[in-house]
Amino acid sequence: MTRRFLFVLGSSRPDGNTELLARTAAEQLPAGTEQEWFDLAEQPLPDFVDVRHDAEIPRPEGAAAHLLDATLAATDLVIASPLYWYSVSAQTKRYLDHWAGWLRLPGVDFKARMAGRTLWGVTALAHEEFEVADPLVGTLRTSAAYLGMRFGGVLLGNGSKPGDVRTDTEALARAKTFFAQEAPLARFPYER
Ligand SMILES: Cc1cc2nc3c(=O)[nH]c(=O)nc-3n(C[C@H](O)[C@H](O)[C@H](O)COP(=O)(O)O)c2cc1C
Repeated sequence: MTRRFLFVLGSSRPDGNTELLARTAAEQLPAGTEQEWFDLAEQPLPDFVDVRHDAEIPRPEGAAAHLLDATLAATDLVIASPLYWYSVSAQTKRYLDHWAGWLRLPGVDFKARMAGRTLWGVTALAHEEFEVADPLVGTLRTSAAYLGMRFGGVLLGNGSKPGDVRTDTEALARAKTFFAQEAPLARFPYER
């Protein structure tokens, strides 16, 4: 099966460190790997409204419809979010919240179709001690576990202003092999 990577960019500014790190990792993907990049700042999703238990759940429209299709088409989903308050950005969180609606959309079978796909994370943060990003890592890993997905881990890089991550040579080196790593089935914390 041809691998298809969907990169979902969650920064609130263009050309940031997270995107730079994600693009460095993507450069190493084997030829023939399909890639789509979706920038949540350029094509914002509407606020999520919880209509899961209403009689009728409206079909997504516009950017949300496109992103649903792109998510379902991806074998590998890369959430590239800067670290904001130790977790994912609001734009990224809104994307994850929309999953809760997509899970209930009749005829979509979101959970069954996402099972077995691989979730990866990329993040940039100003703090030099990367353990502070544990809440972001936990959010992504546990969300992957909920959907029965594989989890390839999170590529972390240091930087504050745009371009700073270029000086994090260790992160750039990790980026070179990041997507070649094993991605085991994600587990809930109580299963490990
Ligand atoms: C709203 C906001 C919250 C942030 N929270 C954190 C944080 O919790 N820990 C941290 O190390 N850096 C934090 N930062 C710094 C960013 O993670 C850092 O500037 C990063 O390089 C931004 O990624 P980007 O260039 O891809 O946008 C925060 C920045 C903003 C704007």
